[in-house]
Amino acid sequence: MWFTYGPPTENPFDRDEEISTLIKLMRGGQPVSLVGPRRIGKTSILLASLKKSNLPYVLISAEDFLKGEKGFNFTEFLSAYVSKVILSLHPFSGYAFKLEEKVKSYLKVLRDLLGAVKISLNIPEVSGLIEVVLDKGEKGKDLSEEFSRALELPELLAEKFNIRIVIAIDEFQYLNFAKQAVPEIFHVMRSKWQFQKRVSYVISGSAVGMLKEIMSSKNQPFYQYFYSIRVNPFNRETSKEFLRKGFETDGVKVSEEDIEKIAEYVDGFPAWLNLVGIKVELEGEVEKALSSLPFDDNVISAIEGDLNKLSPTARSVLRKLAKLGGTGSPKDLGENEWSVQRGLKQLIRYGYVEREERGIYKIIDPMVTHYLSVR
Ligand SMILES: Nc1ncnc2c1ncn2[C@@H]1O[C@H](COP(=O)(O)OP(=O)(O)O)[C@@H](O)[C@H]1O
Ligand SMILES: [Mg+2]
Repeated sequence: MWFTYGPPTENPFDRDEEISTLIKLMRGGQPVSLVGPRRIGKTSILLASLKKSNLPYVLISAEDFLKGEKGFNFTEFLSAYVSKVILSLHPFSGYAFKLEEKVKSYLKVLRDLLGAVKISLNIPEVSGLIEVVLDKGEKGKDLSEEFSRALELPELLAEKFNIRIVIAIDEFQYLNFAKQAVPEIFHVMRSKWQFQKRVSYVISGSAVGMLKEIMSSKNQPFYQYFYSIRVNPFNRETSKEFLRKGFETDGVKVSEEDIEKIAEYVDGFPAWLNLVGIKVELEGEVEKALSSLPFDDNVISAIEGDLNKLSPTARSVLRKLAKLGGTGSPKDLGENEWSVQRGLKQLIRYGYVEREERGIYKIIDPMVTHYLSVR
């Protein structure tokens, strides 16, 4: 089947330009940020570029360490970071180490790695770092000092093996929640990263507004640090080409008119193009597949998952905007001007809404509009 829904793909359609740009920048050591809304294909571009670059890499998603409302499991994040850096560079020592398929706890992985690292790397600084992370981590103690040291680890190992490594942190904005553990987390990162010669950093994230704040405010640590790549939806022609190719490959006949309808409905979002493709191939009827989409279990769980991250005020503003067809001005979005502004601000920070010309606001993901406008 051409269409797949859910996991990122290592073979994204029509992203060759983004991928080759990213590879060039990674090889050259330029820090990069990939910014775009949820389900636009950032992780897929990242994964494809990392694989194709042939560089050793670490890919870690800050989203995996969220716990509860605004909590962050910093001990697990730090253990994952150290484990993954070691796992990606340790083969250069001539030793192998196999990671279990399903990792339950990175603290445990780190414990398993310690013995191997003592023999294969034989660097006291590295085993020392692991020992102290294990000791403090298992007791639930503060690990902020160890974070600085962990950030030096990739450079240290890359130098030892005389290679370059890429560190990619996906959904980077969620590190904001790690500020409970390390209040100056972004300052600490910047201060270490900027002097490293052998590590290329890539971050990506969907909270478009929040990332912009981190990167483009003068008083922020990452001000003018990253080369920013915006990941956009497919244009109409690319969407149609993607659908045509898919139906053709899978041997399903769909008219040009129906292809146009699908492309218009999902407006260039790869995840939704894939989902509709699957539904059409299973159910046969395009009209029915589209009209049932806002009630599809996959759509419900994806969009509800997003909405849960928002405050009730932001949710209410988003719903009003959806009822207006996805675009509107603040005066149409609620009685209380102040709370509308507050809602819009959160929606922009989290990457659900964009401000267009002349005070018009727009929902970025068309499926959010379809979903909310029938409820
Ligand atoms: N260029 C593409 N071609 C085909 N499928 C894609 C493409 N980009 C993304 N997808 C699919 O869309 C979904 C969302 O992609 P993902 O990379 O996870 O997006 P993001 O990281 O921006 O949330 C995944 O199922 C992925 O396989
Ligand atoms: Mg992603």
